[in-house]
Amino acid sequence: MKLDHLAWREVEAYLKRSDGIIIPAGSIEQHGPMGLIGTDALCAQAIADGAAEIAGAISAPCLAYAPAPFNMAFPGTISLSPDLFAAMAQEIVAGLASQGFGHFYFLNGHGANLEPLRRISVGPAAALRIKSWWDFEPVNVLRRQWYGDWEGMHATPSEVSITQALHRVIQPGEEALAPPQKLSPEFIAAHTGDRHGPPDQHRQAFPDGRVGSHSALARPEHGVALLQAARTAVAEDFLAFVGGETR
Ligand code: NI
Repeated sequence: MKLDHLAWREVEAYLKRSDGIIIPAGSIEQHGPMGLIGTDALCAQAIADGAAEIAGAISAPCLAYAPAPFNMAFPGTISLSPDLFAAMAQEIVAGLASQGFGHFYFLNGHGANLEPLRRISVGPAAALRIKSWWDFEPVNVLRRQWYGDWEGMHATPSEVSITQALHRVIQPGEEALAPPQKLSPEFIAAHTGDRHGPPDQHRQAFPDGRVGSHSALARPEHGVALLQAARTAVAEDFLAFVGGETR
């Protein structure tokens, strides 16, 4: 059930049987020549909503405005400071906690959200779990099988496949059909969690916006399968979380 599609009486009734909520977090930023600006938010929202359906739980509207400073030299990107994003997430959690929610499950779709989300503090009676949709093995089996190293770090074929299944296919032009520059293992290790440089430098280093990802390998049918794998895995993990399992 989507929180914003419920009436407050329905939320009150839900709280009598569960105090869990899935909160997606994404971004509004460039995703290469054929990826949608909202890719991270659209993926996280769709997976959170689907997982909530399977688990009989509530999913919240996505925290879509997020830190993406390195992409600000690409038009369409919107970026919040990590401090503002962390404060927003903290206030959302505190408000929901005051109404009786106690298990906060963040389903993330954007690397740079992880550090600020980990700053959230919940009371001793509440619990927090933060997972990215690519953390789950059934999802990664598909990503490895279809894309291997070409999954890369940004404008990944997996996330583009999901938005193709959900929304829109931008046919790859010459720019997107050419493979991106290959990333070294050292680069990947140094930039995990979207630790990228200043905007102008980032655009100069990655002129079409892709960071090691061959987006043109994306297929809408891959997106359908990735969505199903991710929704199922997140639903299972969420149910274990509200059931009291800690990991
Ligand atoms: Ni993304």
